[in-house]
Amino acid sequence: MAFPITRMRRLRRTESLRSLVRETRLSPAGFIYPLFICPGEGIRKPIGSMPGVFNLSVDEAVKECCEVAALGIGGIILFGLPEAKDEAATGAWADDGIVQRAARAIKLAVPNLLIMGDVCLCEYMSHGHCGIIVKSGDDYEIQNDPSLAILAKTAVSQARAGIDIIAPSDMMDGRVAAIRAALDGSGFSDTPILSYAAKFASGFYGPFREAADSAPAFGDRRSYQMDPPNLREAMREIELDLAEGADMIMVKPALAYLDVIAEARRRFDVPLSAYQVSGEYAMIQAAAQNGWIDRERVMMESLIAIQRAGASIILTYFAKDAARLLG
Ligand code: PBG
Repeated sequence: MAFPITRMRRLRRTESLRSLVRETRLSPAGFIYPLFICPGEGIRKPIGSMPGVFNLSVDEAVKECCEVAALGIGGIILFGLPEAKDEAATGAWADDGIVQRAARAIKLAVPNLLIMGDVCLCEYMSHGHCGIIVKSGDDYEIQNDPSLAILAKTAVSQARAGIDIIAPSDMMDGRVAAIRAALDGSGFSDTPILSYAAKFASGFYGPFREAADSAPAFGDRRSYQMDPPNLREAMREIELDLAEGADMIMVKPALAYLDVIAEARRRFDVPLSAYQVSGEYAMIQAAAQNGWIDRERVMMESLIAIQRAGASIILTYFAKDAARLLG
């Protein structure tokens, strides 16, 4: 008598059978493609540590978005490289800020493409931290509550520019409630918030800080981002953001935190996203360039792992390449 397992193996023998019994399927509709917008015109500046990713001027970003929409990708998320930085993050909330200008131009050209706005201050602060800083000697402290007003202002200015989903990534306490109240008070009660709820203080953000020119000038982000060993604390952070009014949540980074994704999926019945961050992208690109791994295979395997763990929305620099493969 043949063991049933033999038939299970047969089920995996051809692509059509494998496809039939597949438990997890990727779709471009679940991808979000990050864009880094810089001043100027006609600019496509390669980012050294992220081969294939560029700083784009608004006009180039619009072209990119036409391509993204044609590939059936779910949406984009905008990061800004402002003309000037200061200690009040003026560029983050200015009505003619770089992200606000990009959003208006993209909405005009590709009205149906979903636009997320990353709400954070690090790209706009001269010191590169995600909130207001008070320094005394070598010591510095992040001012949580005073930062909330700036974050809320930023969110409202993004909504005004046509951004569809507000995605705060700063990790200040209480920012979801502050942003929700400000949006509601400005006529944007229908604009959802996707909270970077479980965002870990990670070494995997290295290349992003080159891409967004947002490395802290001193210190690090460990006082406001989460400690990598803590899963239960991550659940608590998510719970608090949901209580404050988050509509969707995110775990970030992705591949090193699949257990956090899985646990969040089990506990919370809201749309769950995961961010496959710059360092995850860079590792795969670098190893592939050396001929050490098969790029497409590892790209798809990592994306499927993130979805299998429970994320239905994946923010990824591979969005276009993966969408092309999924055809
Ligand atoms: C802003 C922000 C960061 C990322 C997204 N939003 C950097 C950070 O927290 O240092 C990282 C994304 C990536 O690495 O791809 N705070």
